[in-house]
Amino acid sequence: MSMLMQDRAVVVTGAGRGLGEAFAVHLAQAGAAVVVNDVDAELAERTAANIRAHGGRAVASGHSVADPAQAAAIVDLCVSEFGAIDGLVNNAGLNYEALPWEEDLDEVRELVEVNVLGVMYTGIAAVKAMVAAGRGGSIVNISSGASLGQRKLGVYAASKGAVASLTYSWALDLEESGIRVNAVCPLAHTRMVWKSERSLRNCPPDRTPSRIAPVVLFLLSDAAEGITGQLVRCNGPQLHIVGQPYLKAPILERHTWDTDTVRQAFDEVFSAHLEPYGLEKRVPPRLRKWTTPLRSA
Ligand SMILES: NC(=O)c1ccc[n+]([C@@H]2O[C@H](COP(=O)([O-])OP(=O)(O)OC[C@H]3O[C@@H](n4cnc5c(N)ncnc54)[C@H](O)[C@@H]3O)[C@@H](O)[C@H]2O)c1
Repeated sequence: MSMLMQDRAVVVTGAGRGLGEAFAVHLAQAGAAVVVNDVDAELAERTAANIRAHGGRAVASGHSVADPAQAAAIVDLCVSEFGAIDGLVNNAGLNYEALPWEEDLDEVRELVEVNVLGVMYTGIAAVKAMVAAGRGGSIVNISSGASLGQRKLGVYAASKGAVASLTYSWALDLEESGIRVNAVCPLAHTRMVWKSERSLRNCPPDRTPSRIAPVVLFLLSDAAEGITGQLVRCNGPQLHIVGQPYLKAPILERHTWDTDTVRQAFDEVFSAHLEPYGLEKRVPPRLRKWTTPLRSA
């Protein structure tokens, strides 16, 4: 394999198992020195030891990304061990399924703390170190196709939508500092998928985490120069860009909008422009009567 990451130091969070483990191993094989982080410290050490046993450079971190001081310590460890931080893979994440009225609020908070705040805390610490060093860098956030909206995954989907918005925004803020920020929406057999019957149905066993790792390696490396602010989806065989939300025409204008004119706008104009919603592209009821195929009598 080409040594795309020679002389580069990177952090991969949540790398004790699953996708993160595959990313850490692949990046190390491409020459990177890797901080293998996982809140499960034993698993982090197992991945790091495996990399070292194969001649790579790796050190383990058992910090939690959900705590700002610990997130900063992950980045500090990279700088103290390897002299710099050139890349970050914000991969640590939690997932569960629940209908909105069945949500456990402690579970909601825990998920947001890891999937949203954890990405922000670790990202902010990494960006500070990268900007201070003045030699650019690359961040790959792990989002999800669920960010387009999925049943029973509202809180998870929202957390991954937040990661997508963060990616676009930071890409704008950091271009001048030479720091690229992209996101990957993976699909792979991990314990996250094993927990859900629906995910298992959508994810054949040959979709291994190592099939996603080359996408992350590419985006982290200089081979992806000029590519920033992108959401890239890979599910094994398919690779594509995820389109960005946009301001849809027609954009109506009046000095002020009252309820009557808003209603009129929907009755006369927007009814025909309503968007199919969610990953399953469900047609809104008002439009459905025009899109449901006629049954023969
Ligand atoms: N597997 C898929 O098909 C899929 C699809 C879309 C997105 N993702 C995303 O990919 C990422 C990796 O998921 P996975 O499928 O490998 O799941 P996984 O559960 O196998 O691995 C996640 C790892 O993150 C670690 N982690 C959890 N909280 C942490 C914390 N506070 N600090 C540090 N580490 C922590 C866990 O200990 C675990 O080892 C997640 O962000 C997930 O949302 C996965």
